[in-house]
Amino acid sequence: MTEHLHIEGLGVEFNGFKAVNDLNLSVAQGELRCLIGPNGAGKTTTLDLICGKTRPMHGSIRYRGREIARLPEFQIARAGIGRKFQVPSVFRQLTVRENLEVAHCKHISVYTNILRSGRSAESDGLEKLAAFVDLSDYFEAPASVLSHGQTQWLEIALLLAQDSELILLDEPAAGMTHQETQKTADICNRLKGKHTIIVVEHDMGFVRQIAQVVSVMHQGTLLMEGTVEEISRDQRVREVYLGSTLGI
Ligand SMILES: Nc1ncnc2c1ncn2[C@@H]1O[C@H](COP(=O)(O)OP(=O)(O)O)[C@@H](O)[C@H]1O
Ligand SMILES: [Mg+2]
Repeated sequence: MTEHLHIEGLGVEFNGFKAVNDLNLSVAQGELRCLIGPNGAGKTTTLDLICGKTRPMHGSIRYRGREIARLPEFQIARAGIGRKFQVPSVFRQLTVRENLEVAHCKHISVYTNILRSGRSAESDGLEKLAAFVDLSDYFEAPASVLSHGQTQWLEIALLLAQDSELILLDEPAAGMTHQETQKTADICNRLKGKHTIIVVEHDMGFVRQIAQVVSVMHQGTLLMEGTVEEISRDQRVREVYLGSTLGI
């Protein structure tokens, strides 16, 4: 299998505290990888390191054969890596369509913009993206009318509009109703194969619905990798979750 995302010896410290410590992680193209672990395990920091929000102190991150660790954030985004943050970054005053247009324009140069013959093909594409996250009925509605769940789905569509291949989702089902969580799982499942996805998630019910391989982090490093069944049976995993409400 061609190497796609390959993390080796990754580390960062905050005031001497090793938030991520000698982390090794490989994800294949089109794979959906779940990243779980108790609070403070370093999951969010790992996504921060991959997308360039935080600069690693040690190690390497190769994406499609290219070293991307320590590149500026915009270059990492341009390389095809998109990150959805826990706090939404949609423009609430703009419509769903306008939000998608803004995200789409971010990744194309002014030159391509000038050369483009018409906007209808692009508009078709954006409508398809809205349909993909079940927001067709809201295409011309301001983002401010969207529910919490719908806003999260719009965020995912924005990553697709900006042509991200590797999508990093940090707790995408947080604060969602049961029904919204189901729909988010469905969106993740439909992205599989076409995109490479890393999902950080607390909700094991959600993880069960989408997981292929699950990586478990503990104290900044990889504790184990396996299927949901394998990690649920593992004594070390059970121990790090002891006393937590995760219910592995
Ligand atoms: N910018 C920062 N400054 C200081 N400490 C941080 C910073 N970011 C994260 N940490 C610490 O690193 C550890 C890992 O955090 P995080 O990656 O958010 O964990 P998780 O997402 O797995 O819950 C935590 O102990 C957290 O307090
Ligand atoms: Mg986190």
